[in-house]
Amino acid sequence: MKIVNKNNFKQSMSKFATGITVVATNYESILYGKTINSFSSLSLSPPLVLFSLDNKSSKLNIFKRSKIVSINILSKDQKTISDNFAKNDPSWNKINYKILANGNPVINDCVSNLDCKITNKIKQGDHLIFICKVNKVYNNNKLNPLLYFNSKYFSR
Ligand SMILES: Cc1cc2nc3c(=O)[nH]c(=O)nc-3n(C[C@H](O)[C@H](O)[C@H](O)COP(=O)(O)O)c2cc1C
Repeated sequence: MKIVNKNNFKQSMSKFATGITVVATNYESILYGKTINSFSSLSLSPPLVLFSLDNKSSKLNIFKRSKIVSINILSKDQKTISDNFAKNDPSWNKINYKILANGNPVINDCVSNLDCKITNKIKQGDHLIFICKVNKVYNNNKLNPLLYFNSKYFSR
């Protein structure tokens, strides 16, 4: 084993296969979305999930001020959506989505969508952890997930 450094730590983390989500919000009638794979289930009762945002993220202040978010777990054919929301200036123009009664945008044709309230924020290292209570869910049992492994989309 080697002493951990930034490079080998990043590589180790890339060996943990994940799904990909877009965390989205509607702040003062403007839609925001960010590609996130730090998403994790946290608690069953109550239903809690978490994700973390880099302190350097340009939209950190928006998500900090938001009270609700949707978490959209992408399906295999939604690579372009992942790429779009990993950009600094993502566009919603080509995204199929609907707006829930509470204002949250949810992306169509995902494997799952979670409608959440942000209940806690915890600063740790160079990231901010968002803890969210899940209020509503939509699951699509017919679609397969978009997977990420070794810093690449994983499909086989
Ligand atoms: C697969 C993938 C997963 C990502 N996961 C996270 C994450 O969990 N947290 C985070 O802050 N940024 C994550 N990012 C980076 C953001 O999507 C985005 O690229 C970054 O915040 C830069 O945007 P900015 O210029 O608006 O700050 C991820 C990017 C990709 C492609």
